[in-house]
Amino acid sequence: MSKNVLIMEGDGIGPEIIAEARKVLEAVNDKDGLGLDFVEGMLGGRAYDKHGHPYPEETREKARAADAILFGSVGGPQWDGKTERHLRPEAGLLDIRSDLDLFANLRPAITFEQLADASPLKPELVAGLDILIVRELTGGIYFGGPRGVRTLENGERQGFNTDVYSESEIRRIGKVAFDAAQKRGKKVCSVDKANVMEVSVLWREIMEEVAKDYPDVELSHMYVDNAAMQLVVNPKQFDVMVTGNLFGDILSDEASMLTGSIGMLPSASLNEGSQGFYEPSHGSAPDIAGQGVANPLATIMSAAMLLRYSIGAGESANRVEAAVSQVLDQGLRTGDIMSEGMTQVSTAEMGDAVVKALLAES
Ligand code: IPM
Ligand code: MG
Repeated sequence: MSKNVLIMEGDGIGPEIIAEARKVLEAVNDKDGLGLDFVEGMLGGRAYDKHGHPYPEETREKARAADAILFGSVGGPQWDGKTERHLRPEAGLLDIRSDLDLFANLRPAITFEQLADASPLKPELVAGLDILIVRELTGGIYFGGPRGVRTLENGERQGFNTDVYSESEIRRIGKVAFDAAQKRGKKVCSVDKANVMEVSVLWREIMEEVAKDYPDVELSHMYVDNAAMQLVVNPKQFDVMVTGNLFGDILSDEASMLTGSIGMLPSASLNEGSQGFYEPSHGSAPDIAGQGVANPLATIMSAAMLLRYSIGAGESANRVEAAVSQVLDQGLRTGDIMSEGMTQVSTAEMGDAVVKALLAES
């Protein structure tokens, strides 16, 4: 049976990086006979310009019908402060995450040995690094209410948001983390702020409960401030890290630099079914948009995750990842991961090289 993949470019460097990931997906689709059908849609700022909403109705229908969605990035200065909050490009991304109940965000931070020198950290600290950050994506302070800006009696304005997690929300993301850990290094580090926040006290309690069903997995807890520090002091102590929406947003950006560049960090956002939304963890980089210099590898590796988690094509996913590793072996680098003695290439040249390596694989 054919599977339906919705492809959306988004804003900024989105069109450039998606073009390369699409080339790779099409190549692997043909080579491995995966039977993927591609559909296009719009999400983010350009969707707002065209349809008056960052997550237009038309996209909603396509998204609900898709087996998997591949996405570029949202946002740019041209939309900053110009529209109401719920119509901002970022709101489109939050809407689709919520609409499809994509609660489990997997962000693997893996350092390719070829890039250990590209990280601002010492190569020996990051060589061989393989962390999986499991970020809760549809709850917490991103979605909690009440929220807003109100005027106090003294006339001063006050902004407020609410961090909320129910037991069931904590439990389901906990299970995702423990299931993943069972297939990897068998360690889960749950990150919270239980020394200050009640929501974190409950988070910790539920994680302990979930852990009882996984006797072979070791659970530890860490406060988020310490976790931020440990990620740069001794990142290889971690296997799976599980955390809430806001802490996960911050820690995954931090972890991305361990891999050499934020341009190397893919992500998968999954719901209870096999439907998933795949995007690079980085943003729309408006400063370099349209120049053909962006690194497409995070998006290409997101496409590999798409094949693995939503299409059930794990072998094809491995092939795409092997092709990425091969182009790095060949010394090809986009600007963000460039180092002495390597060959600097454009976004499209990098994509073409991955396709070539993929087609050459037996
Ligand atoms: C991310 C991004 C988004 C987030 C923004 C663009 C809304 O930073 O996916 O990490 O905060 O979740
Ligand atoms: Mg982020």
